[in-house]
Amino acid sequence: MNAPSVDMAAAEALFAFWRDAGVDACFEDEPIDRTVFVAPVAAKGPATVTPLRAPGAAPSVDEAAAEARRLAAGASTLDELAEAIAAFEGCPLRAMGARQAVFARGNPQGALMIIGEGPGAEEDVRGQPFVGQAGQLLDRILTAASLLDDAFITNTVFWKTPGNRAPTPQEQAACAPFVERAATLLKPKAVLLVGASAAKAVLKTDDGIMRMRGQWREWLPEGGIAAPAIATLHPAFLLRQPQAKGLVWKDILDLSVRLRSEVVEPGA
Ligand code: URA
Repeated sequence: MNAPSVDMAAAEALFAFWRDAGVDACFEDEPIDRTVFVAPVAAKGPATVTPLRAPGAAPSVDEAAAEARRLAAGASTLDELAEAIAAFEGCPLRAMGARQAVFARGNPQGALMIIGEGPGAEEDVRGQPFVGQAGQLLDRILTAASLLDDAFITNTVFWKTPGNRAPTPQEQAACAPFVERAATLLKPKAVLLVGASAAKAVLKTDDGIMRMRGQWREWLPEGGIAAPAIATLHPAFLLRQPQAKGLVWKDILDLSVRLRSEVVEPGA
């Protein structure tokens, strides 16, 4: 029997449609026919204790965060923390088409810790945060304020999201112990939260970014020391809305003054 002929143009158009809709990854090695319903097998014999989690099922957020906390606590340097993150299997993003874990770049002795949302496609390929277009703009801003050499840059999650969507609070919660451990090891003088998603996750608030930006808040990483944190707009937003650059520049100058000052009191 001849194989059915494939209309290549139609197939390419379909893939282009999915790509434009943000579908950029397959999550399983083999396709799953989700039109076929497999009925669950009825349990036989005496009642058994229902396991908290089916074998092979993804861990709950609490389980994942507990495992992250255990791995993070075992890291006594930022390099060890990078290894612990690479070994961590609890973040669901890991199995959603990411090539590798993307932890950090910059000065491991830096006084400034920068936390963004999560790696994008470019970061996923290169293994470093903020190296795409938005990252290049961030570097230009930091360079203009003479802060780039003092910055240690990371994200709330370490694997790219499908279609570059924002990470979910659950994905961020699973990775949070690593971010907190990074702060504990780095002991930054100040923290810059880049964009709404990072600011909300780190400061555990639902406040909007326009309300939060430019204000100093105290960040208390679990098991770590308090650090003063300021949120600003994401450079990806600035690429779309360049007229907002003035607001970011104001926040960066404020940050710069704080970093250069002798005494830093969290929340002051
Ligand atoms: N945006 C982020 O928030 N982080 C990156 O690493 C890249 C883009």
